Amino acid sequence: MNLCVLGAQWGDEGKGKIVDLLTPNFGVVARYQGGHNAGHTVYVNGRKFVLHLIPSGILHDGVTCLIGNGVVVDPHALFAEVDKLAGMGFDVAGRLFVSDKAHLILPYHRELDILSEARRGERKIGTTSRGIGPAYEDKIGRRGVRVGDLRDTSDNGPLVGAIRENVDARNRLVGNTEMKWQDVVADLRVMWTRLEPFVADVSLRLSQAFATGTRVMFEGAQGTLLDIDHGTYPYVTSSNAVAGGACTGLGIGPKAINAVLGVAKAYTTRVGEGPLPTELLGEMGQRLRDTGQEYGASTGRPRRCGWYDAVAVRYAVRINGLDALALTKLDVLDGIETLEICTAYKCGDEILTEMPADTAQLAACTPIYESMPGWTQPTRGVTRFSDLPAEARAYIARLEAVSGVPAAVVSTGSERDHTIVRDDSVAATWF
Ligand code: GDP
Ligand code: IMO
Ligand code: MG
Repeated sequence: MNLCVLGAQWGDEGKGKIVDLLTPNFGVVARYQGGHNAGHTVYVNGRKFVLHLIPSGILHDGVTCLIGNGVVVDPHALFAEVDKLAGMGFDVAGRLFVSDKAHLILPYHRELDILSEARRGERKIGTTSRGIGPAYEDKIGRRGVRVGDLRDTSDNGPLVGAIRENVDARNRLVGNTEMKWQDVVADLRVMWTRLEPFVADVSLRLSQAFATGTRVMFEGAQGTLLDIDHGTYPYVTSSNAVAGGACTGLGIGPKAINAVLGVAKAYTTRVGEGPLPTELLGEMGQRLRDTGQEYGASTGRPRRCGWYDAVAVRYAVRINGLDALALTKLDVLDGIETLEICTAYKCGDEILTEMPADTAQLAACTPIYESMPGWTQPTRGVTRFSDLPAEARAYIARLEAVSGVPAAVVSTGSERDHTIVRDDSVAATWF
């Protein structure tokens, strides 16, 4: 039984916590897209780990972690993370592998990311400045450099040729400073000595896992509304964060994915620019930000906060074929008198119950809310559904009804054991 776990909103839903929690029941955890723009926070006995490129299963011994061809890899970021984990007592050697088809993020990608944002001015995306977009641009433009290309860094080889051309293009664009292709190549030669033992045919490893009955978890980064095709374009990331991305980003067939779990907060957040229909700009937004510690795990930016948007989650159910939700951060809503749930959008004279494709139209929408009573008792750390206050149970039931899937997992805190797994749900087979 292979499971895909991904974001059902705008990222930061708590995917890291859920993947870490599920990992003991899987032999392999594989990331299929994104790069170190992701920040997946996992707490284990009060210790905080933030994973960017490395799958969130790495904190469990004996689990193999794979970084697929769909991921863009900055080798410096990768080794910074490997070193950090080593410093915390986790050795990844022999259980972390990177696809030789994954594209590299190189120094000029980071520069071009920042430059492109500056050029857009008011229309900026609010990227993480990690070079993600430009690296995917080079991939699609067929001038990218892949991990496996580092095998041949000879002066007349194809890798050096591509880097020379790309650095030339960068120098023409930037003008006032010059980057030397020789420096980029020299750095990559050093990187290769460290990277080589990690390189693998990820698709082949996965097919071997399937053949031996090893359970595999596919870990998404970002979220459905940040997907390059299905998100709030152009305010999105540059990869397919949706379930379909797991097939192309790992080299597996669609039938290898047996179930899809969408992670969604019990409210909504977004970091960066772009429409967020339920955004709360006043006191309630600040309350959610403070209580939920809603600051970006990668960039430290304050996250924009709002009420639960069932139109967006229902859309994620459709686009990903979600079987269930893992509903996180329920405890953040403790003590709020009245909770609002957005069930439709009002756009001019129209009532929309489906996500519009036109981002300008979405930006012009206002949410239509229904209200639910909140609860006063704390829910933090509750592990049994029946121990939740009646109002919290009713709130969850309503979210399930308006989102169209059951909340098989409910998270009540950042620690592993702050979790309710509903044994009467589909999740029972995943634990
Ligand atoms: P990801 O990118 O989807 O993995 O999510 P992030 O790690 O960026 O953001 C989620 C944050 O919420 C992290 O700091 C988690 O430790 C935290 N978190 C996850 N689940 C819960 C929960 O149920 N309650 C609370 N209070 N925090 C949670
Ligand atoms: P995880 O995996 C939330 C957002 C950025 C920006 C847009 C494009 O932790 O959920 P990029 O640097 O990817 O070109 O930025 O996407 N973004 C995220 N927001 N969580 C993430 O990852 C994100 N990764 C990118 O803020 O709006
Ligand atoms: Mg995150």
